[in-house]
Amino acid sequence: MEFFDNHCHLDDEKFDEDREELIKEIRKQNVTKIISAGYNLESSKKAINLSEKYNFIYSTCGISPNDIPQSEQELWKTLQEIENLLQQKSKIVAVGEIGLDYYWNKENKELQKLAFIEQIKLANKYNLPIVIHTREAASDTIEILKNNEVKNKGVFHCCPLKSVDLVKDALKLQFYVSFAGPVTFKNSKNANEIIKMVPENRMLIETDSPYLSPEPLRGTRNTPINVKLVAKKIADVKMQSIEEIANITYANAMKLFNIS
Ligand code: NI
Repeated sequence: MEFFDNHCHLDDEKFDEDREELIKEIRKQNVTKIISAGYNLESSKKAINLSEKYNFIYSTCGISPNDIPQSEQELWKTLQEIENLLQQKSKIVAVGEIGLDYYWNKENKELQKLAFIEQIKLANKYNLPIVIHTREAASDTIEILKNNEVKNKGVFHCCPLKSVDLVKDALKLQFYVSFAGPVTFKNSKNANEIIKMVPENRMLIETDSPYLSPEPLRGTRNTPINVKLVAKKIADVKMQSIEEIANITYANAMKLFNIS
């Protein structure tokens, strides 16, 4: 049984002390594919470096809504640098994480939207799917996706559990939904309903580590190994075996991110 953690941040400073040993341990524990997600220029470059060093690690490049530069001029410059990275084509499997976040940033909605739309264009130009981060911005996110077709689709990462409707819209648009630690939290009211709602062929699993450790490890440093706990929760709700969930989500991720 092999697991695919399709979203984590192995470049994070919380892994600085033991990154090498941890990566070996992850591989031993049968998490055999990992995507380290970029969220700004720096982390995108670090993710690429990791993917060049380890054959089971892949990367994404992008500017997240919480890392938007102050001015439009700076944003264009940063987007150009992201495009320079995409041209390297070095195991970059998606543009992301990109999207809208009105929880942390309400003051720059127009710049967020511009960055999101321009990065969708980059994904289309380089024939890649996108990784979406959306928080408190459901209707604008869906509107942008309706008005800007993403050729290779993508994934709603760390499935937002507040809005059942957002998940319905994501599925209607043929996007994947990726479950993370919060589905295991005791206070996540909609988790079971949403897990049941997402069909097998649209389902992915991730850790978003080092943050959001699943139960019973909530509050500790998260690692890609814990993707198993997310798989277990889904298996319990869907009344399937953890092996079935591992296999399905592994195959889905290979397909979406075009890994052979
Ligand atoms: Ni993330």
